[in-house]
Amino acid sequence: MNKHYKLAILPGDGTGPEVVNEGLKVLAAAADKFAFTTETETFDWGGDRYLETGNVLPDEAADILRKFDAVYLGAIGHPKVKPGILEKGILLKLRFELDQYINLRPVKLYPGVETPLAGKTPEDIDYVVVRENTGGIYTGIGGISMQGTPDEVAIQSMVYNRKQVERCLRYAFEYTSKRHHNAPWKGLSQEDIAAGKTGQLTLCGKTNVLTYVFDLWERTFYEVAKDYPDVKTDYCHVDATCMWMVKNPEWFDVIVTCNMFGDIITDLGAMTQGGMGIAAGGNINPSGVSMFEPIGGSAPKYTGRGVINPLAAISAAAMMLEFLGETQAANAIEKSVAFVTGKKLKSMAAGKMGYSTSEVGDLVVENL
Ligand code: IPM
Ligand code: MN
Repeated sequence: MNKHYKLAILPGDGTGPEVVNEGLKVLAAAADKFAFTTETETFDWGGDRYLETGNVLPDEAADILRKFDAVYLGAIGHPKVKPGILEKGILLKLRFELDQYINLRPVKLYPGVETPLAGKTPEDIDYVVVRENTGGIYTGIGGISMQGTPDEVAIQSMVYNRKQVERCLRYAFEYTSKRHHNAPWKGLSQEDIAAGKTGQLTLCGKTNVLTYVFDLWERTFYEVAKDYPDVKTDYCHVDATCMWMVKNPEWFDVIVTCNMFGDIITDLGAMTQGGMGIAAGGNINPSGVSMFEPIGGSAPKYTGRGVINPLAAISAAAMMLEFLGETQAANAIEKSVAFVTGKKLKSMAAGKMGYSTSEVGDLVVENL
């Protein structure tokens, strides 16, 4: 019997709805081709709804989403809403309530895509960042006192417990171990694997300054590593990680890091892979409901003009299918995206692709 998936669609703000439409178009084509079925329900959570009703997110939002197999999100952020309200009230709230403790962000340079890193090719830029997604500074523990006075004090703490760190690291080791075996086309070749080459997991931290939090991460990292003899371990401070991501991105395979560092280095990574038009990510709860999104924002200035690049959203849809177990369909979409970037698009930038948003979606469908 064909597999059937219930998907919650959150188009969100700005260009979110436009790119989500293209992702859904590609999903529908993949469903036909690879014999699975989907049913979708769309929710209007975002800036416009907030401005109309004063309500950021229904109280029962997480419970509603728990009934789905996955969530597909466009973008959150509205020019008429003060920064932070929607981001914290929708995106972060859902990540926390659905316990999506992993943010998986591939940094992959597709063929034909221009990178600002001189001399680097798609072979050099192909790694994945596993960002811890519900702890650290994002926990929001802290406060402000004597506000508005010269003695004002503000504190926001990086909080991690052993359980949070360990489950994130275990996921990262598991992912690194599987990355090449399940999908060798993403990294090592079959010959490499046959020759005994393994995946490599880099812990990105700051053990020289954050001597408490990253001591916990580092100790846990090497303890968990004992269960994964097929994964080579590596450590890099976050500042040095930024340096090598620019100078020698080919050194990386999988990087695991805390929430805040992951947020920062994945924007750097996205730029090296051609920008926000192409970078996708997944907020993952390995035993719950996960949420997939293009990592760029809502791009208000391009809204409604049909010029925004939908490939990040389309890649996010492919990640969602891979997560649901539709590996063949996911691979086919990725290959089609690579064909479209390599042979069709002039640029990844909005308005400069040589095609409209929906034409790019059509190209991915035609080449599936
Ligand atoms: C991201 C974003 C979010 C984050 C913001 C919008 C809250 O930058 O997904 O990387 O900081 O996680
Ligand atoms: Mn970010």
